[in-house]
Amino acid sequence: MEASENTPVTEIGTNEQTPRQIVEELDKYIIGQDEAKRSVAIALRNRWRSRKLEGPMRDEVIPKNILMIGSTGVGKTEIARRLAKLVKAPFIKVEATKFTEVGYVGRDVESIVRDLAETAVRMVRQERMDSVQEKAKELAEERILDVFVPQPKKSQNPLGRLFGNAEEDDEKEEKDEKPKYQAGREWVRKRLKNGELEKELIEIDVEESSRPMVGMFAGSSLEGMGDNIQDMIGNLMPKNRKKRKVTVEQARKIFTQEEAGKLIDMDEVAETAIKVAERSGIVFLDEIDKVAVKGNSNGADVSREGVQRDILPIVEGSQVSTKYGPVKTDHVLFIAAGAFHIAKPSDLIPELQGRFPIRVELKSLRKEDFERILTEPQNALIKQYQAMLATEGVELEFKESAISRIAQLACDVNEQSEDIGARRLHTLLEKLLEDVSFDAPELQDKHVVIDEAYVDDRLHDIVQNHDLSQFIL
Ligand SMILES: Nc1ncnc2c1ncn2[C@@H]1O[C@H](COP(=O)(O)OP(=O)(O)OP(=O)(O)O)[C@@H](O)[C@H]1O
Ligand SMILES: [Mg+2]
Repeated sequence: MEASENTPVTEIGTNEQTPRQIVEELDKYIIGQDEAKRSVAIALRNRWRSRKLEGPMRDEVIPKNILMIGSTGVGKTEIARRLAKLVKAPFIKVEATKFTEVGYVGRDVESIVRDLAETAVRMVRQERMDSVQEKAKELAEERILDVFVPQPKKSQNPLGRLFGNAEEDDEKEEKDEKPKYQAGREWVRKRLKNGELEKELIEIDVEESSRPMVGMFAGSSLEGMGDNIQDMIGNLMPKNRKKRKVTVEQARKIFTQEEAGKLIDMDEVAETAIKVAERSGIVFLDEIDKVAVKGNSNGADVSREGVQRDILPIVEGSQVSTKYGPVKTDHVLFIAAGAFHIAKPSDLIPELQGRFPIRVELKSLRKEDFERILTEPQNALIKQYQAMLATEGVELEFKESAISRIAQLACDVNEQSEDIGARRLHTLLEKLLEDVSFDAPELQDKHVVIDEAYVDDRLHDIVQNHDLSQFIL
């Protein structure tokens, strides 16, 4: 742990946002659920705080894991997804149920940590790539120049080399060629810099990835045996280089990428990434309730309890070997979430319960929430439909009365059949806008107004008819 002082600089895992700022950011996408937002915001800030700590205290403070409890469709996964975009830290989301799937033997829970390390490596690598971008661009331009004005060959005339006086010829040739070559190169360089050649087609050598070959093994037992072997096989394959015709513009991108790759030190990347994963990694364990066991055990329950037992050491803190080196999980933050409709948090094995000391409950959504969910978030459903139909020149206008009506119907259906939270809005809107969606290209009047009457006309009967609504909505 002493070594952490010498960690190479990286921005990753250094989220500077205050809890208030994090909540504000989440507010743009998730309506309500303030308690859950506050908890994750505090947890994130605590990472920042513990980094400021000195000496042994720093290692003593381990993150307090969070358990988010709330019925289906109230925003648990959505919070995780937004958080992932928000934080500059290695973040992965896994479904706990993934490890119970019948027949999927070998997909061990340690892969959670391996995936986290993988994410960290990708992030650090990208950061390093960005920092050598300028240099890589210059090198890329040199390589493009080489395509336009190839380096003069040592000997243009192989026969001359075989039959005597080769040396003389070569020297003479080189003397003639050099100024010409240099001048040509400068001329092309100027035009390249001016962007005059961007659309020009050139033929370049590109590295072919060896992935397709490895793909052959997907699904076979090799997958379970870890990435190491796949990588080994990948590395054993000779890296094919293939000729491709591309524009100068594309060549710039390809070469810059290749050159940046050569400029960075992958050993350093791996080392930094592991530290970042250990210190700042966040694992979102979704659907944790699905591996909780209620009452008597049967076969499936045994497997579920097994998953909990497998997860336990990772949450508790253990060392997992990855192809980048061992990763300690003591300081990784875990956020678990589940609907807990059938099983309760107390149905989780006690040891695991104890490792999630912070419990937050997400509220069921009410009519007012639905109204806001429909209109307010940056990716609100109604905005999405409007944008989609605008591509057909259709202007979709929603009256306030219509929004209120849709929200009410969503509540009604959730009460009558099953409460699926905000997901109900998706089914309702799809049905509501079916005709517009279908007719959009041929509509004469490109301005479509959705008011209360329109909503009732399309949805009221279906909502009233229980049997029907169970299938359609
Ligand atoms: N509070 C909310 N604000 C905005 N959108 C929401 C909210 N709750 C749910 N949604 C929307 O409803 C859909 C389902 O939400 P989400 O995936 O978060 O459900 P969940 O709580 O994870 O449910 P489950 O227990 O079934 O996994 C998403 O499209 C999400 O955008
Ligand atoms: Mg979910």
